[in-house]
Amino acid sequence: MINKKIKFLLTGGAGYIGTQMSHLLIDLGHQVSIIDDLSNGTQKYLPKNIKFYKGNYGNKNLVKKVINENKPDLVIHLAGNIIQYESYEKPLLYYENNLINAFNFFRTCIECKIKNFVISSTAAIYGNTKNKTIREIDPNNPYSPYSRTKLSIEWLLEDLSNSEKINYIFLRYFNVAGADMQTRCGQLGKKSTHIVKIIVEYIQKKRTEISIFGNNFQTYDGTCIRDFIHVHDLVDAHLKASIYLLKNKKNEVFNLGSGRGYSVIEVIKKAEAIFNKKIKIKFTNRRNGDNARLVANISKAKKQLIWYPKYSDIANILKTACLWEEKIKNSRDKK
Ligand SMILES: NC(=O)c1ccc[n+]([C@@H]2O[C@H](COP(=O)([O-])OP(=O)(O)OC[C@H]3O[C@@H](n4cnc5c(N)ncnc54)[C@H](O)[C@@H]3O)[C@@H](O)[C@H]2O)c1
Repeated sequence: MINKKIKFLLTGGAGYIGTQMSHLLIDLGHQVSIIDDLSNGTQKYLPKNIKFYKGNYGNKNLVKKVINENKPDLVIHLAGNIIQYESYEKPLLYYENNLINAFNFFRTCIECKIKNFVISSTAAIYGNTKNKTIREIDPNNPYSPYSRTKLSIEWLLEDLSNSEKINYIFLRYFNVAGADMQTRCGQLGKKSTHIVKIIVEYIQKKRTEISIFGNNFQTYDGTCIRDFIHVHDLVDAHLKASIYLLKNKKNEVFNLGSGRGYSVIEVIKKAEAIFNKKIKIKFTNRRNGDNARLVANISKAKKQLIWYPKYSDIANILKTACLWEEKIKNSRDKK
């Protein structure tokens, strides 16, 4: 199976991670079809040789058509709304898009005999832990509506796996950041809440200061500690997980991070050194749903997927993100 070309169906494939995923798969000669409603994505930075279907991944007729036309071996499910603080204001939107659409999507896939699913999940489903790093077996305690929808998707698939004989891998991402090593794609979106994106916007003079949400967390400098994984390492892990799933037909959960934590202040100091520029910061109130510390234990993914985060050095993350930000600086696609 490893040498075979695989037919992938990506939901949300026109987003930040989906576009990077598509480039990797097309670079390696795999086949990619995408369903995306373009609510937060764009076709502009996708590779040429994909089949793109604009629409809602919860739409039964569309999903059937895409599956019939492309006969995917496997689904990578990325579509959804993703902003934690926004989910407190709009829980109906989050439950509808992330859970009800997912329910309809999986039901249609099962009707069409799709058996293998790789699912985007999130570290936000973990509760606070006393351990320095989080393992896959650590308890779940999601706070935000967003993270609850993500855990609900996991539960849904666990139950469907028992009755419908489908296979899944849940990939729980920590903080995804950075841009394509060839600057073909990266993060867009004016609503971005990711600290790396915000820093490079500042470096590219799109912001005049950076807000830090909370300086009274129980960490060494009071700001949140996060684990940053380069988007290239992340999509590489998806490919390895896909091959693993097709080969072993075994349900699994993997954390995807770099295994190393940086406080928000540390990332800002790194950026100041790399870009040789003083960054103006402002402390504001904590946001809903932010844990003090989220750092992955990635031993399981390393061992079972034979995967290692090669590009996730924080300097490389900041530099690639900044090159991308420069590229899109004057683009009208910058939303
Ligand atoms: N970026 C991160 O740091 C991060 C961290 C943890 C988990 N995740 C998960 O990874 C996945 C992808 O995240 P991303 O950063 O690429 O986000 P993104 O917003 O860039 O991509 C999501 C894509 O889904 C599409 N979409 C949304 N609703 C849709 C619908 N109903 N039908 C069809 N398409 C729809 C959007 O248009 C967008 O292109 C999400 O499931 C997110 O929860 C991301």
